[in-house]
Amino acid sequence: MITLKSPREIEGMRKSGALLAAVHIGLRDLIKPGISAMAIENFTNDYIISHGGIPSEKGFEGYKYATCVAVNDEVAHATPRQSVILKNGDLVKVDMTISLNGYQSDSCWSYAVGEVSPKIQKLMDVTKKALYLGIDQAVIGNRLGDIGYAIQHYTEDENGYGDVRELVGHGIQPTMHEDPDVLPYGEPHKGLRLKEGMTITIEPMINEGTWQIVAKEVADPNDSWEYYVTADGGWSCQYEHTLAITKNGPKILTSQDPIGDAKYL
Ligand code: MF3
Ligand code: CO
Ligand code: CO
Repeated sequence: MITLKSPREIEGMRKSGALLAAVHIGLRDLIKPGISAMAIENFTNDYIISHGGIPSEKGFEGYKYATCVAVNDEVAHATPRQSVILKNGDLVKVDMTISLNGYQSDSCWSYAVGEVSPKIQKLMDVTKKALYLGIDQAVIGNRLGDIGYAIQHYTEDENGYGDVRELVGHGIQPTMHEDPDVLPYGEPHKGLRLKEGMTITIEPMINEGTWQIVAKEVADPNDSWEYYVTADGGWSCQYEHTLAITKNGPKILTSQDPIGDAKYL
């Protein structure tokens, strides 16, 4: 079921999103060569809790952590592992969902560890731009296919990357995952029409090579959890924002950048 949110509810989600954004801003300084994926988890978990929030990925379908921390060819849903030590040149994706006063927000961000190669910097730039091209289509009266097409056309047709099909954006609030699915691919003018008060995530995962991914089991006898890696070993990048469809256009609720995002706030 798709629920339309009031301006009051959207404001609650924006406050949740502001706390989430503060975590990501903190991670910019934390993430450097030599730290473990578990250090990212611990920082995030403590920051959210000490500011009155709840890390809402914890407990979701048996998941045990506040974050998903995926490195290089890992695409998504990777558990933060103490054994994963970040090296100069790595690309790390940190995805988290939080709840604050009953309001959810969800945002994944990609980080260069030290300095990444020009090839990976381009993958990051294209993926971030793809997210914003999708957001630009999130206006009343457009259809979900307009969002998906904008992302797919730019990443695949114009840049030759692979746009992951299996993992998609979603409605959000009151729970983490609500209807509708927000596919990062599709056809213009097709699909559900966007209405004022919808709250959704857009979260393209863009691969250097093929869009195909494969599931892997975490190597932990106490934790049965599946995550995804690229099928061809190429690296993958992701950015995700939570946003609201409003009369004034798409409103980003997880912005970390009041100047760059000014027209979406
Ligand atoms: N935050 C993720 C999303 O974008 C959900 C991760 S599910 C988890 O939808 F269980 F791995 F946390
Ligand atoms: Co997410
Ligand atoms: Co999401």
